[in-house]
Amino acid sequence: MAQLSGNEDRVIIFDTTLRDGEQSAGAGLTVEEKLRIAHQLKKLGVDVIEAGFAGSSPGDFEAVRRIANEVKGPIITSLARAVDADIDAAGKALAGVKNARIHTFISASDIHLMHQMRKNREAIMDMAVHAVERAKSYVDDVEFSPMDASRTEPEYLYTMLEAVIRAGATTVNIPDTVGYSTPGEFGALIKGIKDNVPNIDQAVISVHCHNDLGMSAANSLAAIENGARQIEGCINGLGERAGNAALEEVIMAVETRSDHYRLKTGIATEEIGNTSRMVSSIFGFPVQANKAIVGQNAFRHSSGIHQDAFLKERTTFEIMEPDKVGWRGEALVLGKLSGRAGLRARLHDLGYTLTDAELTDVFVTFKDLADTKREVTDMDLEALMSEQHRMVDTDHVYRLGTVHVVCGNDTSPEARVTLGCPDGMSRTVEAKGTGPVDAVCKAIDQVVNLDIELTEFAVSAVTEGIDSLGEVTIRVEKDGSVYSGRGSDSDIVVASAKAYINAINRLLAIGVQDRTATTGAV
Ligand code: KIV
Ligand code: ZN
Repeated sequence: MAQLSGNEDRVIIFDTTLRDGEQSAGAGLTVEEKLRIAHQLKKLGVDVIEAGFAGSSPGDFEAVRRIANEVKGPIITSLARAVDADIDAAGKALAGVKNARIHTFISASDIHLMHQMRKNREAIMDMAVHAVERAKSYVDDVEFSPMDASRTEPEYLYTMLEAVIRAGATTVNIPDTVGYSTPGEFGALIKGIKDNVPNIDQAVISVHCHNDLGMSAANSLAAIENGARQIEGCINGLGERAGNAALEEVIMAVETRSDHYRLKTGIATEEIGNTSRMVSSIFGFPVQANKAIVGQNAFRHSSGIHQDAFLKERTTFEIMEPDKVGWRGEALVLGKLSGRAGLRARLHDLGYTLTDAELTDVFVTFKDLADTKREVTDMDLEALMSEQHRMVDTDHVYRLGTVHVVCGNDTSPEARVTLGCPDGMSRTVEAKGTGPVDAVCKAIDQVVNLDIELTEFAVSAVTEGIDSLGEVTIRVEKDGSVYSGRGSDSDIVVASAKAYINAINRLLAIGVQDRTATTGAV
């Protein structure tokens, strides 16, 4: 499958979580983390994975290269500005890969041309055509995006689309870059393109909607009603500023309202929950409780009237079956008497296949948790697995040993922390702070000596109840870049220490990957 053609009844799902999603302020993933998400996106059944922007950094180049070589099935694409260096970097990162696409873009609206590009329409048109021709020298499958299309003068847009299709573009993507359009306007724009671009039948029309006014899903759906056959978006609606269309929302609208849209996707919808939880955990962005499809409350019925009717007949208050989107509530699964086989089976259902050695490690942590909690839920298991992955990914950097704190309202908080260090030594340090978490972070700072600033600290409970696991998300800033870290534990001070060390390890890992990846890119 070198190229996909959006036919009359099939919508191509293009995931850009690893590119536009990674542009979310405060996001930043390691190559290993991107690979894990890419494998899950393949399980979800997305048609296209935008793996990154190869020309933007050596780390992104490496992520695109590895995903393209290791994740087989979906089309893998790299973004590239309409400049030779970016297109060459994308071409090199995708070299030798069968299902490869280059996605090149250039600003098209007058407001962008005047203030951002400082070039006239003719010059931009030449750059667009040249970019597609150059991308074509690397791959057959080329996507072109006129950035800010929804604010571009339609006649100029039509001419540009006609020219890039003539140059070989196989998909033309229409971005509502600043989330300005309304569903009526955006649907009409797609119809205008269908009616006025003479060679439009030679390309798939795609859309890429941002959510600044909360209309990205509605705009994407209006587009497919008017002939678009590819939708771009991100899991959990991540992305630049207010994010992109949440893929789970547009997918479930197409599936649930097939009576209306009369279209299909190739998505394994039962994998939506697993994908959403993985993306939330790796990016360090919790999903709001009332978020459509994947929020904790999305299938919970609270009012007595609703509960009564729901128990008589589910469809009175539920338009989708929770199982169909892999939603999980608080299903009680395991306890302190559960054995290795039970744990392995349950983790397998959650999408984790473990080797015997991995199971042995996880089982020890599970038993510790089961000793402190009455019931271990699926959510606890997800948190435990994330913790495990975090340790494996950053094995070579810092590891938390022990944490001891003294605090209360009659004493000044003090912490003693033991850390395993990259040189194989273990160091114990003590510090005072304004609170127990501050004291722990100050102690860790003495060892790592990195001059970082903690900019965000949030605690949430993984499940309900006083004995719930606490999950801490931390963001730290160094030299203008932000790195997130997460940690979970039934003790929130320990969870905070884990999260702080995770952020430090990710900062070091991302820094190293950008310094060491070999590339001819910028
Ligand atoms: O929002 C946008 O216009 C983009 C393009 C690069 C497709 O992300
Ligand atoms: Zn975008």
